[in-house]
Amino acid sequence: MATDSKRTRVVVTRRLPEPVEKRMSELFDTHLNRSDAPLKREELAALMRDADVLVPTITDRIDGGLLAQAGERLRLIANYGAGVDHIDLASCVGRGITVTNTPGVLTDDTADMTMALILAVPRRLAEGTRIMREGRFEGWSPTWMLGHRITGKRLGIIGMGRIGQAVAKRARAFGLEIHYHNRRRINRPVEEELGATYHDSLDQMLVRMDIVSVNCPHTPATFHLLSARRLKLMQPHAYIVNTARGEVIDENALTRMLQAGELAGAGLDVFEHEPAVNPKLAQMENVVLLPHMSSATIEARTEMGEKVIINIKTFLDGHRPPDRVIAAML
Ligand code: 8YV
Repeated sequence: MATDSKRTRVVVTRRLPEPVEKRMSELFDTHLNRSDAPLKREELAALMRDADVLVPTITDRIDGGLLAQAGERLRLIANYGAGVDHIDLASCVGRGITVTNTPGVLTDDTADMTMALILAVPRRLAEGTRIMREGRFEGWSPTWMLGHRITGKRLGIIGMGRIGQAVAKRARAFGLEIHYHNRRRINRPVEEELGATYHDSLDQMLVRMDIVSVNCPHTPATFHLLSARRLKLMQPHAYIVNTARGEVIDENALTRMLQAGELAGAGLDVFEHEPAVNPKLAQMENVVLLPHMSSATIEARTEMGEKVIINIKTFLDGHRPPDRVIAAML
């Protein structure tokens, strides 16, 4: 690895905010993707052949086969994003490639969008907007467009990491009762501050919730965590919100249950086979769909870029980068 950072070949796979690209170009021998089109596998493989550092995003699948084609020089994958489920971490470890991500700087924005969906689905926000756009508002009525109250309802958060806790903080202000399931119980003072009740058993939590929010990473252990069996544990009046990863929910099972009225509604920012979305979901009035935009603020995307730069710089300087991903942590 060239320690002279100006000679370090950094391959960035997608367009990043302008100040980030500018700074990267000043610091490194940076290859940018001016068109922003997602790279084809062969294009990515070719670029990885003489890269020292790769800066991918969720739209790149960095699997073992691709890593096997990378040049010996590739020593760091500085992911632009918090989730690293698109990167084969075991292969990276095997090849001595360090992986970093960008946690923390998208926490509040993602939690805000989660809260927006928690409010939007029970209160029929998207449906109301459609009515107005289509000129179908014929005047107020006491019994028209009734949704369900948020205050006093039970919110079950799956995954109480940074984002889960930020959701809990916001939801509390809206009078929701906070419940959570996590691999480990969080420390008691934090739990107390959030007024959160821990459920060791996800099944038992699901049975009791009015709204469920998915905020855990996608790992082999969380793939289809909300399987058809688990979704069936939820009550028919319950809503589900997902701003984490589509793969955590069995999307077909969810779609079938929403169609059958076995769940009251869903707010989804992420999908199992992005960018494909089950077309049946788009037809349902009680489903709010967003195009994976929870961290899409200019502030978050710029700070994510700054984190990438810091991770690359510290790595090149011979230090352990601050956001090193350790596979065992996932
Ligand atoms: C990112 C995300 O923008 O950070 C994540 O894990 O899901 C997104 O909000 C995207 O992953 C960028 O690669």
